[in-house]
Amino acid sequence: MEEISEHRIDKWETLMFTYESALKEIATKIDILNNEFIKIHNYNPIEHVTSRIKSSESIVKKLKRHGLEVNMQNCLSDIAGIRIVCSFTSDIYRIADRISSQSDIQVLTVKNYIANPKPNGYKSYHMVVSVPVYLSTGPVNVKVEIQIRTIAMDFWASLEHKIRYKFEGKAPQHINEELKACSDIVNMLDAKMLSLNEEVQALPKVGVEEQHEENVRMQKMWEENKIVDKLQKK
Ligand code: GTP
Ligand code: MG
Repeated sequence: MEEISEHRIDKWETLMFTYESALKEIATKIDILNNEFIKIHNYNPIEHVTSRIKSSESIVKKLKRHGLEVNMQNCLSDIAGIRIVCSFTSDIYRIADRISSQSDIQVLTVKNYIANPKPNGYKSYHMVVSVPVYLSTGPVNVKVEIQIRTIAMDFWASLEHKIRYKFEGKAPQHINEELKACSDIVNMLDAKMLSLNEEVQALPKVGVEEQHEENVRMQKMWEENKIVDKLQKK
């Protein structure tokens, strides 16, 4: 199977189309996984999913930042990105495992910033995977960066991003310290929410009818925000 590489890229549009298609492939896999969890396990592991294709400006900026000789291949691995936000830390590994074990997915790199948080306190689970996209000329393997994190980790990351942007990477010391302290609170909150959920899960199940109603509600919420639909409408 062909790999996307610089000399194969004749047109920017074709390249972007393959990345968009790869995002749809991954989004569909996530949709199926979540639906299966709701139907079979009466459980909704994913809160929401977002995706993005890196803009040409950001790609050029990154290439300039790293020096143009920095391999394009590295840059290509985060052009298509998908972020999965879960309720609990345990869901992160469950989702990562289910995606990685699919036979058409090849996991290229894993960065576990949950087990090894960044010094600033950033936590998230990153995988770069390769997924086949079937074009009329044959299949091509396309790289997609998948980020999986809890709601609390996502909350932290979005504030940290805003702060970094505002101070152009040079935030005052006390703000960085406060951020780090917030990251420790995120750890505590995630751990407490997980243990509380485990305790509740261990309690006797609700009646069949109530469970059915709850599944319908979870399904409806998921359908309303489905990333696959958003990608289709683009
Ligand atoms: P990039 O050059 O940023 O792509 O880094 P990398 O190729 O070494 O990959 P890494 O897995 O470290 O980070 C990839 C992505 O994770 C970034 O583009 C961000 O979306 C996110 N990320 C990584 N570190 C941080 C952080 O400290 N704060 C926030 N808010 N996001 C981060
Ligand atoms: Mg990257």
